[in-house]
Amino acid sequence: MGREALRFPSDFRWGTATAAHQVEGEPAPSDWWAWERVPGHVKDGTDAGRACEWWAGRYREDFDLAQAMGQNALRLSVDWSRIEPREGEWDGQAIARYRQMLSDLRERGIEPMVTLFHFVSPLWLAEKGGWENESTVRYFERFATKVVEEYGDLVDLWCTVNEPNVYGAYSYLLGNWPPQKRDIRLAFRVIRHQMLGHAFAYRAIHRVQPTARVGLAQHLRVFDPMQPHSMLDRWAARLQDYLFNGIVLDPPVDGVLRFPLSGNAKVPALVDSQDYIGLNYYSRDMVSFDITKPQLLFGRRSVMPGAEFSMEGWGEIYPEGLYRLLKRLQRYGKPIYVTEFGVPDNDDSKRPRFLITHLSAVYRAIADGVPVKGVYFWSLVDNFEWAEGFSARFGLIGLDLETGKRTLKSSGQLYGEICRKGAITMEMIERYAPELKEQLFETSHSS
Ligand code: FCB
Repeated sequence: MGREALRFPSDFRWGTATAAHQVEGEPAPSDWWAWERVPGHVKDGTDAGRACEWWAGRYREDFDLAQAMGQNALRLSVDWSRIEPREGEWDGQAIARYRQMLSDLRERGIEPMVTLFHFVSPLWLAEKGGWENESTVRYFERFATKVVEEYGDLVDLWCTVNEPNVYGAYSYLLGNWPPQKRDIRLAFRVIRHQMLGHAFAYRAIHRVQPTARVGLAQHLRVFDPMQPHSMLDRWAARLQDYLFNGIVLDPPVDGVLRFPLSGNAKVPALVDSQDYIGLNYYSRDMVSFDITKPQLLFGRRSVMPGAEFSMEGWGEIYPEGLYRLLKRLQRYGKPIYVTEFGVPDNDDSKRPRFLITHLSAVYRAIADGVPVKGVYFWSLVDNFEWAEGFSARFGLIGLDLETGKRTLKSSGQLYGEICRKGAITMEMIERYAPELKEQLFETSHSS
């Protein structure tokens, strides 16, 4: 194997992450399908179209490649609108198709983690106001119960909600995603309801399947003051951290629902309602105090000058942030999965190095005693990136949109090598991130 540098625990989960709407293709009665058909909504004029044709069965090609890469885990979601296309009606055929998908994964020795809500709502629910309404919490609880009753023999690792803060921000504050509202109070309300939805789904899943491991995928960002010596920048950065990270991170621990503009409330069902913490990590924001931006609570976010980037507008590549956030999560004393990390990189020129620097950050956290149990790279295959359409490619597998042909990228080959070895070799570090050698060696010698 060559000189080995960083060996991960033998039961480590090496996976990739996907979401139903981004890979399935074929219309479903959901808010996203309706929305993206309106010209102008998706920036590059594409829609999910055939996507990666998972619904038509081509997921098998991707699962085969995942297996060949040596992955032993995959995070995917079920589309609520396919399973419950009309209020209270279950679609047996859709349920059977997901069952087939999950069995096909198991057959390949890949453990599924199933997400129940990944940004997409059934139309009937959206028409009632979706997560703006507290009643959605009960609909979600019923849906979660149904899914676990159906698939409990194949799945015991569940992710209730994906990134409640991002959904709140994009759909209800920035107005980029359906239903395109711009109302900060509504955004907080939607986040609170999703936290409640998580809590009730957590309890419901455990009632059906007592051995289940249930968590949610939290998108956390690092917020650093642009001028570290400026008290105002530090204050503004702390406030952004609280409003983005804090309001979702603590509720499933202490059970307190945070109402940033009015107060807090304790919800017993939320207390200690996660068996693991899921971390989706992408980037950091530099924050400056800006008196002219009350609507942003005086925090102007920008990027670190001179930082490494992937594509225009996508934020800094900052692997140290992953290490810092994992260390921050250590205090909760729960197993941790990195439920997403990834980079938009259409020519795959940055992704190989990105993999090495980020996995090294995970390695250092483990060496420091943080209980990281696995990672899910975003994403297995190029897919429909929401309002960006197909213009931002995240896959380890390249997708030809015309033919649907799959090609393993260099980053996919590299990830495969890492998964199969369960280690990052010295050659990989020398080739992709030589500047880390010293730091990693200090870590592995002192641990
Ligand atoms: C995350 C989303 C995921 C994907 C990546 C790039 O915030 O959970 O669906 O869009 O970003």
